[in-house]
Amino acid sequence: MKFSHFIILIIAVNFNSAFAQENVQIIPQPSQIEYGQGSFSLEKGVNIIAPQALENEAEFLADILGKGLGIKPEILPEGKGIEMEIEPDLHKHLGKEGYVLEVGLSGISINAATSSGVFYGIQSLRQLLPSAFEFTQQKEKIEIPILTVTDVPRFPWRAFMLDESRHFKGSREVKKLLDQMALLKMNTFHWHLTDDQGWRIEIKKYPRLTEIGSKRKDTQASRKSEKRTGEPHEGFYTQEQIKEIIDYAKLRHITIVPEIEMPGHAMAAVAAYPWLGSLGTTTEVPVVFGKMDDSFNIADPNVVQFLKDVLDEVFALFPGNVVHIGGDEVNFKAWEESESAQRFMKQNDLESEVDLQIFFTNQMSNYIDKAGKRMMGWNEILGDDIHEERQQDPELIKQKLAKSAIVHFWKGDLNLINRAVQEGYDVVNSNHWDTYLDYTYERTPLSKSYAFDPVPDGLESKYHSRILGTGTQMWSEWIPSVAEMERQIFPRLAAYAEVGWTPVKKKNFERFQASLEKLQQRWTLQGINFYKETDDTK
Ligand code: ACM
Repeated sequence: MKFSHFIILIIAVNFNSAFAQENVQIIPQPSQIEYGQGSFSLEKGVNIIAPQALENEAEFLADILGKGLGIKPEILPEGKGIEMEIEPDLHKHLGKEGYVLEVGLSGISINAATSSGVFYGIQSLRQLLPSAFEFTQQKEKIEIPILTVTDVPRFPWRAFMLDESRHFKGSREVKKLLDQMALLKMNTFHWHLTDDQGWRIEIKKYPRLTEIGSKRKDTQASRKSEKRTGEPHEGFYTQEQIKEIIDYAKLRHITIVPEIEMPGHAMAAVAAYPWLGSLGTTTEVPVVFGKMDDSFNIADPNVVQFLKDVLDEVFALFPGNVVHIGGDEVNFKAWEESESAQRFMKQNDLESEVDLQIFFTNQMSNYIDKAGKRMMGWNEILGDDIHEERQQDPELIKQKLAKSAIVHFWKGDLNLINRAVQEGYDVVNSNHWDTYLDYTYERTPLSKSYAFDPVPDGLESKYHSRILGTGTQMWSEWIPSVAEMERQIFPRLAAYAEVGWTPVKKKNFERFQASLEKLQQRWTLQGINFYKETDDTK
């Protein structure tokens, strides 16, 4: 080889690998990417090589490739093409959800210890394709840069919560959101199905919960306002519809955590069955938002039985191992004014309403444990005075929350997280300042969402594994339409996906912002509304 040729070759190779790196925009950013030289040509006729155990994942990829290539690849047990395999030994290095994706000159392979890992490898591969690939048949073959991605998530809990009580959105939108979660490797859909303003899940034993509780006559139109929309609002999921969504999520390696609020945020249920309430005055599903008056009358064994009956149907429906019971913002006034609650407290040696809530929550926790599942609740379940309204000396609280509970931190001093993990609780950190999607972009800009660290500053490393991860929450009091909701969610969801997945040392906001471009193109092609920094309304 003449020296001048040698120079040209070097330049060509460098150019090639620079070209490759620029085009690799995977969100969440993987733990490690090693770049090679050259590219793999993805063409019509490529096969997917997968064992029976990966049938669903292979089908998922075949559907995607079929869209861009115009012909759905065949799935074969052996041969050459895009190979996927489960190798249990990889668990040591990659855990349950990690994977290795290798793009070579003659083929692509995805290896992981589990089908979830393989599924996440597929999500990275999707992001190596042009953003229009899944929406328009490609005219030319696709060049995928030679590289090896070795990737492991930072946290096992990467959640998105949707509040459908305040404004019901329906199956189609939920599936659309599950698709986006899957692409972003988020594994937990926290479904807020009951609250004061609407009960959204069919419970066969108590049909009035949806006959009455899923409908309200009107809706408060804006904060601190007497204005109403003048429109009724309603909607609920039958158990059949819920099963369909559970299956849809399962194929995308997403577990659904249903939230059934108790003992507060209960007024839609109380409107349906007034004997559930403490005040005896609740007759309608509220049309206004904010902290409501009534709470379940948990001093009545029939009410506790009702809640257990509801949970029985929830256990039978949802295969996941966590059930969220809410537990936030209970209005203790309802119990202070209830003779039966006060009598019950005396009989059971409960000195305060805080103790009463913990006593009740532990009954539910035991019930959920017996079903082989775990209870989760907002951090009020610990009894901390996070609303600065109880003036309760923590020393006076005698009841202690069951240790199997998962504490969902959303409000209060971050030291409460430290204390909870030191006491042995597992915590999901959804600090409202950092993770609430109903907040404006002025209050929670993308850079702030991105910078969030679920592990509080200064937490001793021996407790880090007790922080299971993070959730981001789409509360919907003031978000009636799908378009508004999507604008609140996107692009922040991508930032939270990276918070949950990417190692801290790999996080970089500038790189993240640059990588967003491809996702934004996808969202545009899918008709998903998203916020742009240049939008003048926040
Ligand atoms: C909450 O935002 N009330 C958990």
